[in-house]
Amino acid sequence: MSNNAESFDRWIRTSFVEMNTALENVYFAQEDRAQVIGVGDDIKAELRDEGHVYIVGLLKEGNTGDGFDSAFGVLGSVGLYLGAMRRHELTNPAREKRSPFAEASALASHVGASLGMAPRFSTGHLATHNKAVAGIRKSFTSLPDEFLFIDENTRGILSMQGAADALRRIVPLGISSPVADVLFGVAKQALSEVIRFNQRLFTTLDVDRFFYSVRPYYKPYRVGWQEYRGANAGDFSGINELDLLLGVCRASDPYYAQLLVDKMLFMLPDDQARLRSCMTYRSLLDEFLAVADTSSDTDWFQENAAAFIEVCELFGQTAAQHHDLLVKRFIEGPAADLKPDHLAGVTASGPPLPALIRSLEVLKDMRVAAKRTDLVTRHDDLARLKSRLRREPACTGARQPQ
Ligand code: HEM
Repeated sequence: MSNNAESFDRWIRTSFVEMNTALENVYFAQEDRAQVIGVGDDIKAELRDEGHVYIVGLLKEGNTGDGFDSAFGVLGSVGLYLGAMRRHELTNPAREKRSPFAEASALASHVGASLGMAPRFSTGHLATHNKAVAGIRKSFTSLPDEFLFIDENTRGILSMQGAADALRRIVPLGISSPVADVLFGVAKQALSEVIRFNQRLFTTLDVDRFFYSVRPYYKPYRVGWQEYRGANAGDFSGINELDLLLGVCRASDPYYAQLLVDKMLFMLPDDQARLRSCMTYRSLLDEFLAVADTSSDTDWFQENAAAFIEVCELFGQTAAQHHDLLVKRFIEGPAADLKPDHLAGVTASGPPLPALIRSLEVLKDMRVAAKRTDLVTRHDDLARLKSRLRREPACTGARQPQ
């Protein structure tokens, strides 16, 4: 890492965090916690100007060729800076045609393009590739609820990646392999962990602190003239690998295909490659259905199809938790109390909240294979597979963990 990159990284982990935290505490102490414009202007100016100096230095230096990790770190730091500028209303895509932060935009575009990623911070920067230095990972603030959110998200993501990795390993072995039991077992264990982390996040995260002091850093912002949607915990390929490998979502579904295209550049290049290769496999559900008529009497079919259905059930539970617990409690609930003029920009992706909730519900219903007349889900296919089993899979029916 160059000296400039190192200094910027140090600033992001120290003064940047202190100033954001100070601002959050000022906003949070107000009667209207959503009021940001005209509040804490001295700190905002200091934050903007200090960061600008590092960015100008890095821009002058050009691409240092220091390798992926260094460039990815710079993209994350300049992204956090722009995310903070947006949060403190020093920029707002609704008011502007192009970003007022020309140097930061140029730096982000240069580094983003060289990495093959969107020129903004994304989940990888704050989750799976957020390098801890003496225990301190990058963050916007030092609020305990931000660390709780980042850490539990990351644990959930890591476990989903573990589950996806196990299922991918079944592809070359085939669904009739006796050793698929180990891999279904790993996937079940990993998804049970996701359920545990989601539940823990649900019970321990403070609703108001999350809504008023953490979530606002995830809004869309412009880089140059282009507006980029905000980061969300979903910007990793593991969740889609699970969708596609299990077969609950299909890359040929117009809605789902669009979603994959949209998120591609928000993921790390390795994840992009994994997702692309996953799109070429036949799903495990389709594999089982293809042999159901000829093989359902065999022991291997009974064992492996039951394990497969248990994995689907657990995956469905994680999706139901995300929607019915996390999104409801931490976004929909507090948004209902907002004044109408603060409602715009509540979501990370940009659309009005009801539209976002509807599209998240579509995903949830695909993942739980709900019976819906207006949406193609795998409900009937999974029911057909289940009907071939001699015993009930272990967790059938327990979709909603308490
Ligand atoms: C307090 C906790 C959480 C809340 C309130 C929350 C809320 C949201 C919202 C509102 C979106 C839509 C993005 C947007 O705003 O445009 C989203 C997307 C997403 N989130 Fe979360 N989330 C939380 C935690 C998690 C965790 C722990 C995971 C999994 C590890 C996760 C996985 C996803 C995924 C995969 C997406 C992309 C859409 C999808 O494929 O379902 N989220 N989340």
